[in-house]
Amino acid sequence: MTDSNRTPQHIAVIMDGNGRWATAHGLPRILGHRAGAAAVRRVVEACSELGVQVLTLYAFSWENWDRPADEVHDLMQLLNEFLVAETPRLLENRIRLRAIGRLHELPPSVQEHLGRVIECTASLDRMTLVLALSYGSRQEIVDAARRLAEQVQQGALRPEQIDESRLAAHLSTSDLPDPDLLIRTSGEQRLSNFLLWQSSYAELYVTPRLWPDFSREDLLDAIADYERRERRFGQVTDSTRGLHIPLSDPATLPHNGASRC
Ligand code: FPP
Repeated sequence: MTDSNRTPQHIAVIMDGNGRWATAHGLPRILGHRAGAAAVRRVVEACSELGVQVLTLYAFSWENWDRPADEVHDLMQLLNEFLVAETPRLLENRIRLRAIGRLHELPPSVQEHLGRVIECTASLDRMTLVLALSYGSRQEIVDAARRLAEQVQQGALRPEQIDESRLAAHLSTSDLPDPDLLIRTSGEQRLSNFLLWQSSYAELYVTPRLWPDFSREDLLDAIADYERRERRFGQVTDSTRGLHIPLSDPATLPHNGASRC
């Protein structure tokens, strides 16, 4: 069971392991991605039932363009099929679709399907499903920095006015809460250029499960693990405060002024 008061508001997922799943089953990689799309359906449904507000899925990274052309083509086709097939379910479950990333780099057919589904789900409010497509976090931060630089150049902004909130306002996630829980499947312990800025204080959960096998129970395990954690955001809390022993004034310490070694 999850504790609804502590359910993460925003879950982000690095869906990894489709290729290894396919290899383990003696199947072509695309069938691993198809099985991955079925896992997407399961997790979207479970998150909306559990009251998660935002689910962000790393569906195609900026670096994924360097995969063999036929795999990229198959993934784009799968994405189109998913968008067509899932629209009724999104509408029925009041799920708003969003997309982040360099969307203009996607094939025109994907841009059209995405645009249509985003438009027709825009007013839905039970959960927001964010697909990260042609997404790279470094690229996103560079784009934001460029826009701030343009404002400075135009005289609309002074350099000293640039702070965290101004930079965050130029990220594609500016209207979304930061992820509370970041799940990565397939055992790899990397962020792989995903939501680097936004995940500064996310709780990381790595599971060896390959994405196509990721089940509702696996999601519940991840959430239960998150709920047991204490989030400190760099602060000290009651359980970590410990004893306070006053230290001597550094000026009175015997080695003050001695060699720095
Ligand atoms: C990583 O597995 C996964 C991807 C590059 C694509 C993710 C796509 C899906 C889950 C299916 C389609 C998504 C939607 C939203 C319909 P990998 O291929 O890198 O696996 P490997 O590391 O085992 O080779």
